[in-house]
Amino acid sequence: MSDVDADLRGAADFTAHPYPYYAELRAEGPVHTVRTDEFDRLWLVVGYDEGRAVLADQRFGKDWRKLPGQTGAGAPINANMLEMDPPDHTRLRKLVSREFTPRRIEALRPRVQQITDGLLDAMLPAGRADLLDAFAFPLPMTVICELIGVPDMDRAAFRVMSGAVVSPVGAREEGDAIRAMGAYLTELIEDKRCSPGDDLMSALIAARYDDDDTLSPDELVGMAFLLLVAGHETTVNLISNGVRALLTHPDQLAALRADFGLLDGAVEEMLRYEGPVENATFRLALEDVRIGSRTIRAGDLVLVSLAGADRDPGRYPAPDRFDIRRETQGHLAFGHGIHFCLGAPLARMEGRIAIRTLLERCPGLGPDPDAGEPDWLPGLLIRGVRRLPVRW
Ligand code: HEM
Repeated sequence: MSDVDADLRGAADFTAHPYPYYAELRAEGPVHTVRTDEFDRLWLVVGYDEGRAVLADQRFGKDWRKLPGQTGAGAPINANMLEMDPPDHTRLRKLVSREFTPRRIEALRPRVQQITDGLLDAMLPAGRADLLDAFAFPLPMTVICELIGVPDMDRAAFRVMSGAVVSPVGAREEGDAIRAMGAYLTELIEDKRCSPGDDLMSALIAARYDDDDTLSPDELVGMAFLLLVAGHETTVNLISNGVRALLTHPDQLAALRADFGLLDGAVEEMLRYEGPVENATFRLALEDVRIGSRTIRAGDLVLVSLAGADRDPGRYPAPDRFDIRRETQGHLAFGHGIHFCLGAPLARMEGRIAIRTLLERCPGLGPDPDAGEPDWLPGLLIRGVRRLPVRW
């Protein structure tokens, strides 16, 4: 008899079609043990109420240095708030939220529109494109690089490094990418320290907390890493998963084209229906916690399935239906609790501008008939395709 409820390694089409697996598990209960490619046994929470509760419960920590047997501080890029618990998390988040205010984000709107228009100007004459390469990737990448102050970064190389960190194809590739990214960012921060600009990273280098505290060199690398990676690996998939959902639901596409007043709700439904983050990052049980009939032991790892929670029929009726008019309030695509996505206002603004401008300028947008089957990104964290061939 197996010591886990489900072995996801054996599930051949799990990466392409995870939702039926989450639904099958949920029908048995909200909390399960599973085996994955990386872990022999971890907890997977697939129910909405339970997932939301775990994300808000401080008995589940994010600091993996508290795992039994862990020593050392890890790589500099690990010194980021998403891998910390209070009070370190509180301190780091406060330092950056000051520099990341809604006003600063709103001020980016004209520039986001301008970048969007420029990408479409370049893309449209060809009549067909890989929407990911031509649009969904460069838009958030350009925005986050400009915000942080990365003027002439090698974006192609950064894309490879970043992809290897969030959708790893192997432990060695992941380790290499983490080291390369750390070295790159350390150099970038040194440059900014010598010649500061009017950008977020320069502001963070100078930022102070309670007058006598500032970000350490590792924390600066960790912050730059988190903002750069979280700032584009996710938004790219909001745009591409969202466009895919519209193209595969022509009635919903037609409704949106007919009334852009539905746009904000449509973007929320894109986040709920096929959000970019399939499972939140790992939590670590800091003490024994009972959820329903199961007891998660201190030291156990827990994954909250955002994709599972947001398709819980107990919360969203007919959850597998993509319906841009539905009530999506409370979806977990941006997480919940103290680690709730810092970049949600920016992501929403980019997603809305991107989808609306694309549809307005591309009245005949449709899937490329020669596209073949979608090629889904590996791993449990990010939900998205590698290519999205379209024509118009
Ligand atoms: C559609 C796009 C996005 C989605 C779906 C998304 C989703 C998420 C989720 C689910 C979390 C929580 C993870 C967890 O608790 O394990 C998170 C955290 C975070 N996100 Fe986003 N994100 C998006 C865009 C962005 C952008 C554009 C930025 C920055 C510019 C950003 C910065 C962050 C940061 C810094 C955290 C960590 C917050 C903390 O630990 O307190 N995200 N995001």
